[in-house]
Amino acid sequence: MKHVLKIDGVTRRFGDVTALDGVSLEIGQGEFFALLGPSGCGKTTLLRIIAGFETPDSGTVTLDGDDLLARQPNRRPISLMFQSYALFPHMTVAKNVAYGLERERLPRQEIRKRVGEVLETVGLSRHGDRRPAQLSGGQRQRVALARSIVKRPRLLLLDEPLSALDKKVRADMQLELKRLQHEVGITFVVVTHDQEEAMSLADRIAVFDSGRVRQVDEPVALYERPRTPFVADFVGANNLFEGTAGGPALRTADFGALPGTPVEHLRDGAEALLCVRPEKITLHDDTAGGALQGSVLDVSFYGGVSHISVEMPGRAKPVLVAVQGASDVRAGAKVRLRWDARDAVIIPAASIPAAR
Ligand SMILES: Nc1ncnc2c1ncn2[C@@H]1O[C@H](COP(=O)(O)OP(=O)(O)OP(=O)(O)O)[C@@H](O)[C@H]1O
Ligand SMILES: [Mg+2]
Repeated sequence: MKHVLKIDGVTRRFGDVTALDGVSLEIGQGEFFALLGPSGCGKTTLLRIIAGFETPDSGTVTLDGDDLLARQPNRRPISLMFQSYALFPHMTVAKNVAYGLERERLPRQEIRKRVGEVLETVGLSRHGDRRPAQLSGGQRQRVALARSIVKRPRLLLLDEPLSALDKKVRADMQLELKRLQHEVGITFVVVTHDQEEAMSLADRIAVFDSGRVRQVDEPVALYERPRTPFVADFVGANNLFEGTAGGPALRTADFGALPGTPVEHLRDGAEALLCVRPEKITLHDDTAGGALQGSVLDVSFYGGVSHISVEMPGRAKPVLVAVQGASDVRAGAKVRLRWDARDAVIIPAASIPAAR
């Protein structure tokens, strides 16, 4: 893959706070790349550094091999769509989109053509004369996107582009964003703290925690083979068990040996975590036997799936089990839990997440 953007050892401190701590990433041509992480982990700071509104204390950033940090923000072929994108309320949609091009003093004819094209791309051809107040939230979002791509940047940075939208519109806009990226062929870097959004949109995801990159992977790999406790816990619902490595199992004090597959070679007896996704666990009658016994605490129906939480003696947190459709299990029922070794991963317990 040809790399467009290379970030190498970028650190940024604000007083006592280390917003970015030696971040290195390589982002490919035409890639849809997501930065995922909890609030305050440094996502916006990184985008601001790439766009030029912030300077790192150390590290380098290059675009197509050129030193980006040496260039003024307005000389970088980059658009940044802010977390709270503000449209000009007194301008029409078309004017809002044209604004950046007018500032670059492009010929009128050219501006009109490009604005027309881009409004077509985002499906707002017939709304060019409206003002932002006359649009829905989703439509305003499209205007902001149109404004970002009309300048044909090499790189488009989007900071929480869909966070202001309600769930249904958001789902539509996710598809829209993906289609748009294919159509314009621009490299996208999207910030989100919504892991489902990151997984559904991105080609690859970098998971951030406290200013550091914890893992960079394709969505499926990130979900199925987390490499650190933070990623296992943060990306999607997961059940974590503490113990020590022992071949294809985790040895635990309370539940004996639990079946799983180590993600890397682990020394026998090393502290480890076993991670098993809710949809990989099956529920059985109490009479079925097996080591993992619990009682059903709660059953929640979500339409397509049901979530069943199971209390187990020796565990502070209930185990979450997901089943397709409705479940006939009732709260209070005694059950046994099982999963296949290949459906659970065992990872080193470098830093066990708090409150577990
Ligand atoms: N200009 C600043 N001065 C001081 N501290 C700052 C500044 N900008 C960011 N920070 C701090 O740096 C850390 C990272 O901030 P950043 O805005 O990058 O987080 P984020 O991942 O975008 O979070 P969110 O998901 O809430 O938007 C935070 O602790 C924040 O308080
Ligand atoms: Mg932010």
